[in-house]
Order: sequence, then structure tokens, then C-alpha cells
Amino acid sequence: MERILEPEIMDNKKQVIAYAKADFSLSNQMFVDKLIADYYSRLKNVLDIGCGPADVPIRLAKAMPSVYITAIDASDPMIQFARKQVNKAGLEKQIKVIKGRLPGLVLENNYDAILSKDLLHHLPNPMVFWDEVKHLAKGETVIYVMDLFRPRSKEEARNIVESFSGDETPILKQDFYNSLLAAFTINEIKAQLCEAELNLEVEKVSERHFIAKGLIRGNR
Ligand SMILES: C[S@@+](CC[C@H](N)C(=O)[O-])C[C@H]1O[C@@H](n2cnc3c(N)ncnc32)[C@H](O)[C@@H]1O
Repeated sequence: MERILEPEIMDNKKQVIAYAKADFSLSNQMFVDKLIADYYSRLKNVLDIGCGPADVPIRLAKAMPSVYITAIDASDPMIQFARKQVNKAGLEKQIKVIKGRLPGLVLENNYDAILSKDLLHHLPNPMVFWDEVKHLAKGETVIYVMDLFRPRSKEEARNIVESFSGDETPILKQDFYNSLLAAFTINEIKAQLCEAELNLEVEKVSERHFIAKGLIRGNR
């Protein structure tokens, strides 16, 4: 099945509310647990690109009170929601939420880990993301990216939606379906990494997610 693009930035308010209220605790916690298990000692100053409602940064901050996180997203309503959640959790000192859109992020560039979850499939051109990661990396930097991979057919995508979000709202289910169709296959991800000359390990971690991870050496 060919990839079918979905809108890049999630700035429709109804979509944002549906997304922010949905339960992604299993996949978000798995991402954070795996990151900590793999790179605990390297996590100090972390960047999360496409943070959405900031559930991942909040989970990471709670698990590791010594970590500082910059969480960025290009969507105004998503950023507003993320700030509210961070304040509610009392984590304003540990998590800075910033509006920003890649490519061309203007940031401090002193991150020892760059994370991203479920952003890549939103991008019309994924190389924009991998090039940005290379640009932002300084010294030895952990790269940790989790995303959906594209099922073989629309029918398979429908089945995944029903088995993992059968009880969610229609808007969330449609969003999830669109995301599965917009996602890349694992072979496409490997080809992107090869083109970007990024030596990351790619691993299927569930029936719908992969993780691309590794250490890269930035030029700065
Ligand atoms: C599916 S959400 C994932 C949110 C969060 N990482 C999570 O896993 O719950 C993808 C997010 O990426 C943001 N996004 C899409 N394109 C972007 C870009 N070029 N720059 C920054 N954020 C972007 C969207 O606005 C959206 O909030």
C-alpha cells in the first residue's frame, strides 16, 4: 500500500482535544522505559521534537527528576495544552515548552539526547527530520525516535485501529487510521537513515511501532 499523507501540523482544536484526552499511556510509557533502560546515564538535557500534549516529557521528568527537557511543537493549541499539563504536574522547572517548527529550529543546541515520538509520519518529506537531527546534534548525542509503521493494507489499518483504540472517539480513531496510512514501512525508515548517513538501529517494538535509536556524533 502506498503512503497517504495526512495534515502535518495538528492545529485543529477538536483533533487536539481528542488526541490529548486519548489514552496513549502504554506506548508513551514503553518509549520512556526503553529510553531510560538504554541510555539512563546520558540523559541530562533532552529535546523532544513534536511533543504534542507533553505526555512523554512529563513521564520522563517524573521518572528522572535530574533531567531537563525542552519540548517543542508547531501547533498553537497543542502547545497551550502541553503547557497546561506541565503546570498541572508542577514540572515547569524541568520542562520548557516552546513553539517551533522544523526544519530550521533555533535552539540552544546543547542536547545530549534528541527524542521524537509519532512525529515522523506527519512530515511530507522525512529527510527534513533526519537532517535536522544531524544539525542539532552536538558531540555524542542519543537519538531516540519511535513511530508507527505502515500496515500492508487499509483493511489491516482498520483492524489495528479497532484492536488498539476501539473505545476511543470517532475523531481519534479516524486520526489514528490516517496516521497508519501516512506512516513509513521499516524498510523505508532504513533507507532514509542510509540516505542521511545515520547509523541507527531500527527495531520493531510492537504490532504498530518501531524505534530507531543510537548514538551519533554531531559536528559542533
Ligand atoms: C501525533 S503527534 C505526537 C505527539 C507526541 N509526541 C506523542 O507521542 O504523544 C505529532 C505532533 O507533531 C507536531 N508536528 C508536526 N509537524 C511538525 C513540525 N514540522 N515541527 C514541529 N512539530 C510538528 C504536530 O503538531 C503534533 O503535535
